[in-house]
Amino acid sequence: MAKLAIRIYPDRVLRKKSSTVKSVGEEERRLASDMVKTMRSANGVGLAAPQVGVSRRIIVVDDLENSSSALVLINPVIIKKKGRSRFCEGCLSVPNITSDILRPESIIVEALNLDGDKIKIGTGGFLARVIQHETDHLDGILFIDRIVFLKRRKIFKKISSKVCMEL
Ligand code: NI
Repeated sequence: MAKLAIRIYPDRVLRKKSSTVKSVGEEERRLASDMVKTMRSANGVGLAAPQVGVSRRIIVVDDLENSSSALVLINPVIIKKKGRSRFCEGCLSVPNITSDILRPESIIVEALNLDGDKIKIGTGGFLARVIQHETDHLDGILFIDRIVFLKRRKIFKKISSKVCMEL
C-alpha cells in the first residue's frame, strides 16, 4: 500500500467529471487500498479518487463499526434520498474550511464492490453524509459549492429585509 498525494483546491482535477469504471480488477483494488491508506494517514473519514488525481468513479468511506476495514464503492449512484439534515463538513482537499451543510438524511446507493459485484446500501446519518460528499467529488462538486448557495440565500434575505425596512 502506498500513500498518495492529496490534491488541494483549486487543483483542476477536483472539477473534472470522473469516468465510469468499466471493470474491477487488480489496478482498481490497488488504487482503493492506497486511497484507504491515504485517507487514514490524513485522519479523513472518506476520500474520492479525484482527490488523489484519478478521474475515475471510486470512493472509500471509513466503516465506523469495523475499524479494520473501509467501505469501497465503485460507480456509486444515489438512487433515493430522503429527509434533510444539517452537519458540519470539511474536506481533505479544502483545508481550514468547515461549514454546516444541508443534505438528505438517508439514502439508497447502488455501486460495485471490489469483487465487481453489484451492491445496494440503504443508510442514514453519518455514513449517508460521507457517501454523498464523496459522490459529489466524482462530479467535480465540492462542499464549498453548497456553502455559497446557503450564503447567497442569507445575503438575499438580508437585502430583501433591508428593502422592506426602507419602505
Ligand atoms: Ni471532500
